[in-house]
Amino acid sequence: MTHAVPCVLIVDDTPAARKTLESLLKTEGYRLAFASSGVEALEVAAQLKPDLILLDVMMPEMDGYEVCRRLRGAPETSQVPIIMVTALDDRASRLRGLEVGADDFLTKPIDWAELRARTRTIIRLNRYRLLYAQRSRYELLIRLSPDGIVMVSAAGRILLTNEAAEALLIPAGEGTLSGAPLQGFLLEAESARFFDAFVRVISGQCPLERLETWLQGRGDAPPVPVEISLGRHEWEELPAVQCLIRDITWRKEAELERSRLFREVTDAYDVTIETLALALELRGRDMGGHGRRVAEMTVKVARGMGVNEDEIVNIRRGAFLHDIGKIAIPDSILHKPGPLSAEEWTIMRRHPDVACDLLSQISFLRPATVIPCFHHEKWDGSGYPRGLRGEEIPLPARIFSVVDVWDALSSERVYEPAWPEEKVIAYCRDHSGSHFDPRVVAVFLDILEKESFPPRG
Ligand SMILES: [Fe+2]
Ligand SMILES: [Fe+2]
Repeated sequence: MTHAVPCVLIVDDTPAARKTLESLLKTEGYRLAFASSGVEALEVAAQLKPDLILLDVMMPEMDGYEVCRRLRGAPETSQVPIIMVTALDDRASRLRGLEVGADDFLTKPIDWAELRARTRTIIRLNRYRLLYAQRSRYELLIRLSPDGIVMVSAAGRILLTNEAAEALLIPAGEGTLSGAPLQGFLLEAESARFFDAFVRVISGQCPLERLETWLQGRGDAPPVPVEISLGRHEWEELPAVQCLIRDITWRKEAELERSRLFREVTDAYDVTIETLALALELRGRDMGGHGRRVAEMTVKVARGMGVNEDEIVNIRRGAFLHDIGKIAIPDSILHKPGPLSAEEWTIMRRHPDVACDLLSQISFLRPATVIPCFHHEKWDGSGYPRGLRGEEIPLPARIFSVVDVWDALSSERVYEPAWPEEKVIAYCRDHSGSHFDPRVVAVFLDILEKESFPPRG
């Protein structure tokens, strides 16, 4: 029924009658279909859903009245226009035809002009009725939608809105939106982004655009977060953009709540890590604040080297926990006042592997293991436990080893006072390319220099 070329079904048991109608209607440009019996007519009509059925009355087995009655009884053909073609020109048979649902009558022999006029009129009316029904259904759908729907002209002006859109865009009872520019309802800072998406859709560059943005609040009310989906549309035969506006306040609140909970959990993790690191420092006796200082400085250098923020979290945790493996080193070695024997060194050098074993058991700390595992590796391959060299050593561990040595030398140790800053800097420079990654040393010294001479102001 909605084909571009109207389809007419001709039902007649006489081949000659079908031929006559065919030759008459062919010139009108319709698509023609045929049935030679009532049963066949029902099948073809259900399948094709024609725009019009020309139905012979006098047929053997199932006559036109019965066919018409059945067509009207079936949902898929109940609305198809039916013209009954009959040789009977009496009042009684017309009444019977009307009773079973015929729309019009033609009398045999067929008058060409009459056939043409009636088919044209009935097809046109039927098409208009269908379009109107479609449009009404569409408008009802728009009206009932819980999301705001706004039809916007190519010039950006509002053509049509539903109640949900009006509730979002205007305070109740404050007039109509029709003709207003939709952009005027967006937060000023957001309107350029909306306009870009609008242009992409109206120009046909993108069939669909979706963006999250903010509508201006009413009066003093805060802005409302919304998701707007834009699609190209035709409205009264002109290009338009259909905007589906969804209030996402609840989604934003849920996101905030989720990130608040996530922060709470990660904060709890970090407090646990820091407490653990502090406990280690207390056991180490001479490391007051070392964990926190090296964690902060390592993070600064990592940022200076362009490490992304997701990785920074793991670097901070790894730096705090760098010597957690020393938990397995006996006090007699850890606190030995003199130099360690070769055997004691062997034990001491196990602490990175101990850290690896311990931390890899804890899923949220697994990404933080590289510093505890590799902080004693050296750029030239002379470190331990693996003897990795150059960029084989993960970058966080390369950064950390510079910071760790810097902090140790700058702090007072059991038998040695803190080194002055120049001496520490000279040490780092001297060991760039042997112990340390030269690129890390450069960034580190740069940061140190900036921190020693903070800009005045
Ligand atoms: Fe260590
Ligand atoms: Fe350390």
